[in-house]
Amino acid sequence: MTVLIKTRKAGLILVMQERNKVAGDKLQQSYEDVPYAHLSYPQTHPDRLGMLATIMGMQPAPVTDCRVLELGCAVGGNIIPMAYGLPESRFMGIDFSPGQIKVGQNTIDSLGLKNVNLIQADILSLSEDIGEFDYIIAHGVYSWTPEPVRERLMQICKENLAPDGVAYVSFNAYPGWRMQGTMRDMMLYHTRHIEKPRDRLEKAQNLIGFLAKSVNVKDQYGVFLNAYTSLLNVYNQFDIQRRRNVQEDEFGLLHDDLEEVNDAFYFHEVVEHASRHGLQYLIDADFSKSMISNLKQETAETLLNMSKNVIALEQYMDFLRNCNFRQILLCHKEIDVNRLVKADESWLSKLYAASHARPVTDKINIQDNSNLKIQSTDDAEFSTDHPVTKAALIYLFRSSPKSISLAELLDEVVQGIHNKESAFPDKTAIESDTLILLDNLLSAFSINIKLVELRLYEPPYTTTASEKPLASRIAQWQAQHGLAKVTNLRHEMLDLLHLSGFLLPYLNGENDRDALLKIMHELVQQEAVTLTDKDGQVTDEETIHNILKQELEKNLQWLGRVALLES
Ligand SMILES: C[S@@+](CC[C@H](N)C(=O)[O-])C[C@H]1O[C@@H](n2cnc3c(N)ncnc32)[C@H](O)[C@@H]1O
Repeated sequence: MTVLIKTRKAGLILVMQERNKVAGDKLQQSYEDVPYAHLSYPQTHPDRLGMLATIMGMQPAPVTDCRVLELGCAVGGNIIPMAYGLPESRFMGIDFSPGQIKVGQNTIDSLGLKNVNLIQADILSLSEDIGEFDYIIAHGVYSWTPEPVRERLMQICKENLAPDGVAYVSFNAYPGWRMQGTMRDMMLYHTRHIEKPRDRLEKAQNLIGFLAKSVNVKDQYGVFLNAYTSLLNVYNQFDIQRRRNVQEDEFGLLHDDLEEVNDAFYFHEVVEHASRHGLQYLIDADFSKSMISNLKQETAETLLNMSKNVIALEQYMDFLRNCNFRQILLCHKEIDVNRLVKADESWLSKLYAASHARPVTDKINIQDNSNLKIQSTDDAEFSTDHPVTKAALIYLFRSSPKSISLAELLDEVVQGIHNKESAFPDKTAIESDTLILLDNLLSAFSINIKLVELRLYEPPYTTTASEKPLASRIAQWQAQHGLAKVTNLRHEMLDLLHLSGFLLPYLNGENDRDALLKIMHELVQQEAVTLTDKDGQVTDEETIHNILKQELEKNLQWLGRVALLES
């Protein structure tokens, strides 16, 4: 009798293991057939993880000298630019797809990077011996792998994380994913007999396009279908419409919605999973998402009354926002996390700030009590009447995209408000202003990182092109390989502007402006670049020369503004 039960159980486990193996094999093959795109994510960068850990009271490893592990690194689109930008830090990427690891390794070899190692291995069979890491990143993995892999992923986040380390895990979240999941179900049904990935994507898009056109655009379903169609169009631009040299092997986002495995979870479920492995929730990588202060006061109070702890609170906030994707940070259970984040003077020596938001107040007066309002590119706003903060925001705006150490920022702006030359500086007023400034910077950052960005270090880039301009070698490589987007030295992905994509590979520090102009002329002669004006194609030599000269300066200035140039 006992033997019978045992056999049955073992049989069930075997069947499940076999199913998982088949799912795993199919998954691996799908990334072999269609590798993931080269994508970089600033929210996974050790600078972002370390900065958030710092303001939550932890003492994470310095970004410029740390150890980073990325699970499911694909072709290395995230980890390789990180390694390039942080030459003293060490990076290891794991992926079970041999084809993707080979692409990544070729990139590393051609850039000559010595601080990054890509390993072809299954997360399931990864041994603990891979070492200890200060930052562990698993972006786009948890929802896209079967349960045993998710289990091992959490184990690795526990076993291989340094005591003050931070792990990043992203996943598709309920309740928002429910609606997106129905789109996936319909697309899977519609493409169930189609093998070729491109055909599947096209057919899936056709179905959604047809549905979106055929339902009432004003009803709830119509609104959702149309929004989803726009999302699919973005995918399309990203991967199919390459600027030039369309590359089969970078056709990636197909995996996100049509992949064999794609499970969503409630926030609290993943946090509970982490907790079973001795990890605790730290904060969302999108800090503003965790901030109850961003809600209307009445809503915030009701949610606070409903929630007995921070996990419940954030779960209710997900219900409120119909959240469909989460990027959570985890740390060891034993860490005493400071959940009431308050501006702290110790930040002066640890943090940097940047602001890319523009002042939208007509007449700016720093000294009086009038308000200064700043607005981000996505319309988030912050206003203050505090003179030192106003001066700091203006200073940051003028220095953008550069970030400034908080100590330096304070030094720059406090001087104008409190006469530092005075024999008797008002120390109490300066101390009070310092705290108000830090508090205001934190408030703006809490609303939206595009208003005020906090960092742990300032990446080395220059905003002005030198005599022989030098661009980031990562971006040179990406442009050479025809990628539509490149990674800048702040780890952001950018669409290339004007002729920058053609220019980038030649910005190697060896060509002066005359040489660059000659190269641009050659590109026009070879018809790689066509110049047009209102009357059609420009053929007159002198006009071509003048346009190219202007374009060269315009492009160099733009490359400087978007952190793509090195000194
Ligand atoms: C959706 S992609 C995300 C890629 C990348 N992290 C990103 O977000 O751009 C998932 C990646 O995980 C890898 N992967 C899936 N299951 C894995 C496993 N069991 N072991 C190692 N890698 C795995 C896939 O090959 C693929 O490159």
